[in-house]
Amino acid sequence: MTQSHPKPREQWGTRLGLILAMTANAVGLGNFLRFPVQCVNNGGGAFMIPYFVAFLLLGIPLMWIEWGIGRFGGKYGHGTTPGMFHYLWKHPIAKYLGAVGLAVPFLLVIYYNYIVSWTLAYSVFSFTGKYFGVQNFQGMADFLSAYQGKTSNVYFPSIATAFLFFIITHFSMMWIISKGVSKGIERLAKIAMPLILVFGVFLVIRVIFLGTPDPKFPANNIANGFGFIWNPDFSILKQSKVWLAATGQIFFTLSVGFGAIQTYASYLTPKDDVVLSGLATCSANEFCEVILGGSIAIPVTVAFFGLTQTQKIAAGGAFDLGFFAMPVIFQKMAFGHLVGTIWFFLLFLAGLTSSVAMAQPLMAFFQEEFKWTRKMTARILGVMLFFFTLPVIFFLKHGFLNEIDFWIGTVGLVIFAIIELVLFIWVFGQENAWTEIHAGADIQLPRFFLPIVKYVTLIYLGVLLGFWMFQDGWGVLTMKGVPAADYPYIWFARFLLVGIGALMILLVHIAWRKKHIIQQRIPQ
Ligand code: TRP
Repeated sequence: MTQSHPKPREQWGTRLGLILAMTANAVGLGNFLRFPVQCVNNGGGAFMIPYFVAFLLLGIPLMWIEWGIGRFGGKYGHGTTPGMFHYLWKHPIAKYLGAVGLAVPFLLVIYYNYIVSWTLAYSVFSFTGKYFGVQNFQGMADFLSAYQGKTSNVYFPSIATAFLFFIITHFSMMWIISKGVSKGIERLAKIAMPLILVFGVFLVIRVIFLGTPDPKFPANNIANGFGFIWNPDFSILKQSKVWLAATGQIFFTLSVGFGAIQTYASYLTPKDDVVLSGLATCSANEFCEVILGGSIAIPVTVAFFGLTQTQKIAAGGAFDLGFFAMPVIFQKMAFGHLVGTIWFFLLFLAGLTSSVAMAQPLMAFFQEEFKWTRKMTARILGVMLFFFTLPVIFFLKHGFLNEIDFWIGTVGLVIFAIIELVLFIWVFGQENAWTEIHAGADIQLPRFFLPIVKYVTLIYLGVLLGFWMFQDGWGVLTMKGVPAADYPYIWFARFLLVGIGALMILLVHIAWRKKHIIQQRIPQ
C-alpha cells in the first residue's frame, strides 16, 4: 500500500456488504419507475434488444472501468475523480477534468433526493389513507400538484408538507453518510437491500395473483399486462430514439458516468476482486430492474386501467405512472393500504440508498482533499445541499428540475464517460488498465474485451452524444416549447449548472495549491 495518506482510509467491512452497497447504489427509482415506462414507450419486448446491447457494450465495460479507476485512486488516498485522474494522467489539467465527477453527482442529488422524499410522503399517505377518496387520474394529478406547491387545494394548502418530508429525507441521508462508509452506508445497504428484495418479490406475487380485477372488463387482466410490457414491436428498432433511450436507461440504472461508483470502489483494498464483484453488481441490478421493476407498475396499471389508458399514462413519464396511477390502483385493490405503503416504501429505500451514493463523492472530496473531519464535512455539505435544493423545490413548476435533469442525466454523464474511458484506456494505457482491473480478480476477462472498450464503446459513446445534441440538444438549448414566463428560471438553472461546475474546478484548484505548499514545507 502506498503511504501517501497519513490516516488509513475507510474500507468496506465485508465483501457481501460491499456488493450490497454497490447494488444499493445502482438500484433506485430508475429500476422501478423509469425502466418500465421506457420499455413501454420504446417497443415493449423489442426494447430489450438495444437495452442489452447497451448493457454489454457500455454498461458492463464502464462498470469495470469505474471500479478499476476507483480502486486505483483509493491506493493513493483519493476517493474522487480529481485525484484519480491526477494519477492516471500526469498532466496539470487532469485534476480539473475530474471536477466533472464532483459537479455531476452534486447536481444530481439536489433533485433526486427531493423526488425520493415524495416517495416517503406517499408511503405515509398510503398508510394513513390521505389520498383515499381521490379516485381518478386527474384527481391524483391535482393531489400531487398541490403537494408540490404548484397549486393548492383541500389536501395541501401549501408546500409545507412536501418541505417537511424533504427535510426528513435530507437529514436521513446526511445522518447515514456522517456515520461513514462501513458503519453508515454499508449498514444501510445490509438492511435496505434485503428489504427491497422482499418487498419487490411480495409485490410481484401480489400482481400476478390479481387476475381480472373487474369482470366487466375481461380484457383488463394481468396476463395482458405482462403481454403489454413484453410483446415485442421490432419495427420500432429502426428509430434512433429507441437506441438512445435504451442507452440512457443503462447509464442511469447502473449509476455509471456519475463519479459515484468510483468513490465506492475507492474503499476497496488493492487485493479486492473487481471483475467478479462488478459483474455481480450489474446482475443484481438487472434482476431488480427487468424482473422486479418490469413486473409491477406496468402490468398492474393494465389490469386496472386497460391498454389504451396505460399507454397514455406511460407517455406522461415515470412520475405519472408512480404518483398518479399507482395510488388510484391501491384504492381498488384488496389490502390496498398495505400494498401502497410497501410500494412507496420500497421506492423510498431504493432511492435513499442511491442518494447516499450520490452525496458520498462530495464527502470524500472534502475529507481527503481539504482534510476536514467527517463530522464537519457532513455538516457543511448538509447545509450546502439543503440550500441548493431550495430552487429545485420552489421553482419546480417552472421546469427547473427538468432542465437540470436534461443536462446532467442525459448529456453530462456521456461526456464524463468519454473522459474517463479515454484517460484510463488510452492515456493510462490499455495494458496498465488491464493489469489494474485484474489485480486480485477472481475471474479473467477474455482479451477481446480490450478492443471492444478501446474502440467500440468509445465510438458508441461519441455517436450517442452527437445524436443527443442533434436531436434534443438544440431544442432544449433554445428552449423550444418553454413558456416565455419560465425563461428566467431556466436561465437560473443553467447559471447554477455552470456555477457548480466552476465552483468544483475552483475547489480542486485550491485543494491542489494547498497540497503543493504542504509538500514544499515537508520534503519527503
Ligand atoms: N441508478 C440509480 C437509479 O436507478 C440512479 C442514479 C443515477 C444514481 N446516477 C447515480 C445513484 C449515481 C447513485 C449514484 O435510480
